[in-house]
Amino acid sequence: PVSKTVLVTGGAGFVGSHLVDALVQENDVRILDDLSTGKRSNVNEEATLIEGDIRDSETLDRATENVDLIFHEAGVVSVQQSVEEPMRANEVNLDATLALLERARDLDARVVLASSCAIYGQPTEVPISEDESFSPSSPYGLQKSALDHYALLYEELYGLETVALRYFNIYGPRQSSGDYSGVISIFKRQATNGDPITVDGDGEQTRDFVHVDDIVRANLLAATTEHVGEAYNIGTGDSVTIRELAETIRDVSASSSDIVHTDPRPGDIDESEADISKATEKLGYEPTIPLDEGLSSLL
Ligand code: UD1
Repeated sequence: PVSKTVLVTGGAGFVGSHLVDALVQENDVRILDDLSTGKRSNVNEEATLIEGDIRDSETLDRATENVDLIFHEAGVVSVQQSVEEPMRANEVNLDATLALLERARDLDARVVLASSCAIYGQPTEVPISEDESFSPSSPYGLQKSALDHYALLYEELYGLETVALRYFNIYGPRQSSGDYSGVISIFKRQATNGDPITVDGDGEQTRDFVHVDDIVRANLLAATTEHVGEAYNIGTGDSVTIRELAETIRDVSASSSDIVHTDPRPGDIDESEADISKATEKLGYEPTIPLDEGLSSLL
C-alpha cells in the first residue's frame, strides 16, 4: 500500500494509540491529543504528537494540514460523564467532529469515525443490526448519533469518503482504570486490589465486549473499503451479563473480592449485542479474540 499522511485524533488514548501502532510502519502518522485522558507514554515514538485541544480551530488546522486519511478517536468516552457534563461532552464529541469533517471536505481526506452502539439506546431487538432506530438514552449516545449521521450526510452531500464504526464495548491493554473508564478495567483494578467489585443495579444488563486489537483491524479495513458512506456495527456477536463478567474477572484473577450491587446507572442500557453481519460481508471484518481469551491475557 502507498504511504499516506494519516491523522489519528485521540492517538494517545486507548483505542487511538493501538491504531497508531498499527499504522506507523507504512505511513506518516500524526496524533492530535490534549492528553486529558490520553497518556504521553502511549504515544508511539515514530508518530508526531500535536498536543492540543481539538475544539481549537488553529490546532485543528495544524493537525489536519495535508492529511490523506483521518481516524477520529478523540472524544469524551464515558456515558456517565456525559450525563454529568452534557455541554462539554457535546463540544468535544459533536462540535469538534463537525469542524473536523469540514477540514476533511477541504482536503478530500477519508474519515473513519468512532461511533457507538450507544446510539441505539434500549434496542427493540438483539442482536442489534444497523437498521435499529436511533434512540439514545444519554447525551453521549445522542452526540454519537449525530456524529454518525453527519458522517453519512457528508458522503451524500459532498461526496466525502466517510465510514462510521459503531463500536460495542471495547477492552484491552492501556484502557485506563479510572472511575470513568470501561467496566473491565474497573473490575480488574478492584479484583487486583481486593476491593469490592461494584456491579451497578442487578447486573443483568448485557454487553458485547470486543478486544481493542479487533477494533484496530476494523479501522484498517474501513480505511480501504470501497463501501463508504456507511455505518458498521463492530462487536463480536456475543454478550455476557455484567454479573457474569464480575464473577469471571474475580475467578481469573484469583481474587477474594466481594461482589456488591449499587444503584443502577441513569441512562444505562439493558441489553447489548452486535449483529456484525454487515461488517463481515462488506468490510471482511471477523472478530478474532473471544472474551475468555482476551481476559486471561489481560489479567
Ligand atoms: C461503553 C463505553 C462507550 C461506548 C459504549 C458502547 C467506556 C467508558 N464507555 O459505555 O464509550 O460507546 O460502551 O456500548 O468505555 N458497570 C458496573 N460497575 C462499574 C462500571 C460499570 O456495573 O464499576 C456497568 C455499567 O452500569 C454498564 C456496564 O457495566 O451496565 C458497562 O459500563 P461501561 O464500561 O461504563 O460502558 P457503557 O456505559 O456500556
